[in-house]
Amino acid sequence: EIYRASTTAPVNIAVIKYWGKRDPKLNLPTNSSLSVTLSQSDLRTHTTASCSPSYPASDSLLLNGSPQDVSGARTQACFRELRALRKQLEDADLAVPKLSAMPLKIVSENNFPTAAGLASSAAGFAALVRAIANLYELPASPTALSRIARQGSGSACRSLFGGYVGWEQGSAVDGSDSVAFQVAPANHWPSMRAIILVVSAAKKGVSSTTGMQATVATSSLFASRTSEIVPRRMAEMQKAIQEKDFETFGKVTMMDSNSFHATCLDTYPPIFYLNDVSRAAIKVVEEINASAGKIIAAYTFDAGPNAVIYYLEENEVQVAGLFKAMMGEKEGWKSERGEKVQGNEQ
Ligand code: DP6
Repeated sequence: EIYRASTTAPVNIAVIKYWGKRDPKLNLPTNSSLSVTLSQSDLRTHTTASCSPSYPASDSLLLNGSPQDVSGARTQACFRELRALRKQLEDADLAVPKLSAMPLKIVSENNFPTAAGLASSAAGFAALVRAIANLYELPASPTALSRIARQGSGSACRSLFGGYVGWEQGSAVDGSDSVAFQVAPANHWPSMRAIILVVSAAKKGVSSTTGMQATVATSSLFASRTSEIVPRRMAEMQKAIQEKDFETFGKVTMMDSNSFHATCLDTYPPIFYLNDVSRAAIKVVEEINASAGKIIAAYTFDAGPNAVIYYLEENEVQVAGLFKAMMGEKEGWKSERGEKVQGNEQ
């Protein structure tokens, strides 16, 4: 007998960046962060989790057809936590099948480049955790699942919610209060759009995990970022979202991306995620905003050169239209994808 469940999880793109861990084992961050969950149409991970007493003894994970190592601490932590919750159900009712004792087989497909700075680990771990939670029929809330997904990859905790999502850094040493929360559902501000400029689909140079550890250890700008700048921006950003104030949303998004990349440059040895094409995209956004006389487009970059541009639907022609037109001309811009904000939580 084979038990099986499937789910999809979307990518999220932070407007206030997570960068730095106070506990690398539990992925507990040095600052809170905030992201927008993008629609599942294009950027998502589809995952099927299954288990069976007839499977080979060890757990397995296939990603885009190739076998992955599941012995890593992050994947193990997710498996362990989910099995423990299933065990509780089994212990409480002896009629509940003992799935927690069976080997797991996870099959995942990404429809976007893995590890190219397109937040693939976020969708990946969010989908893995929810697929197993569905398989185990756990009565766990998105908040409870976010605590588990965070241990797979920090940013994954934010992909358990749709819309505008915060991740509270928390203060407990066991990480119990370091969970995601919904700032506003997608339909609160449904005209938000994101365009993704894929500059490079190549695997990034310095992984987020390695990069942020180096920044924590060496950057002199980092302390003021976590203690003053981000806490202030978290409040500003939540207010901007509540009030649907794109000018503030856009300005804070761009400044926080710049601040994050400044701490990367301030890391020793320095980390460069942006390249010439990224900087050209920043310039285009500045030109768009200058000719509009206000902020109608905002760029942000994760741990790679690809740009994500946020804008409102009403400015589609001025923002996305211009980028699409330029894409044909400028060398280096491989493709672009328009995304809406993802609505529901499932
Ligand atoms: C720049 O979540 O990939 O995208 O917890 O080590 O897996 P780990 O890091 P990860 O870092 C994401 C960093 C970022 C900013 C963000 O998404 O908030």
